[in-house]
Amino acid sequence: IAVAIYPSSKDGSRYVAQQIAQLIREKQKNNQLCVLGLATGSTPISMYAELVRLHREEGLSFKNVVSFNLDEYYPIEKDAFQSYWSFMHRHLFNHVDIDPANIHIPDANWPKEEIKKHCAFYEEAIEKLGGVDLQILGIGNNGHIGFNEPGSSIYSKTRLVNLDNGTRLANAYEFQNMSKVPRLAITMGISTILKAKRILLMAWGMKSAIVAKAVEGHVTEQVPASILQQHGDCTFVIDEPAAQELT
Ligand code: F6R
Repeated sequence: IAVAIYPSSKDGSRYVAQQIAQLIREKQKNNQLCVLGLATGSTPISMYAELVRLHREEGLSFKNVVSFNLDEYYPIEKDAFQSYWSFMHRHLFNHVDIDPANIHIPDANWPKEEIKKHCAFYEEAIEKLGGVDLQILGIGNNGHIGFNEPGSSIYSKTRLVNLDNGTRLANAYEFQNMSKVPRLAITMGISTILKAKRILLMAWGMKSAIVAKAVEGHVTEQVPASILQQHGDCTFVIDEPAAQELT
């Protein structure tokens, strides 16, 4: 894992947005689609704001972008404020020229018995496009990536998972109270994430302990982000506070 330390989360966010913009433009020149893997949560919000600015002020077009989001709560209504479908439209998709047909977010409206099929379709859709060119990640305090909680297999694919209570607590601020946070989610698997050609993981502020574990600790399924050490092109983009516990 390479580590890029920026003075502030704003600077780090700008760097990640620039990397995405550069890839989109490179693919445009060659008449190719650009397949992005996208994350939600508080971490990427200012990065999406920068992408929207690049679209409005610097002519960055998303016409050739195909996106696959990492995860979604289950069950949840698409248009619920807390859904990741809503999040992505609010922060990015409503403000850029991406073709709605190119947007993929795990669909939490399938009945439970059909989820396996939906998850297999999701994996297939990624593969048919030649895989994810650039995967954006955040990191949970327990080291989760996507909603792959500690103990997730390195072979895991897109599937329905249980959320750890710590994760539900961390995300409770978006809901009326903890009991309203869904107990389940659909997430890309660890193996799905590892297949991306390039990975940029962002972490700001209070995440220094888990960042150090993921970058410098043993590779273990107990710290899912540590498995990224086995990826050939993964960079942690972090701010100074998040770098504090690196040796
Ligand atoms: C979100 C996701 C999660 C978050 C992680 C950190 O799509 O996959 O792994 O990246 O929970 O969340 P924040 O950014 O809210 O601290």
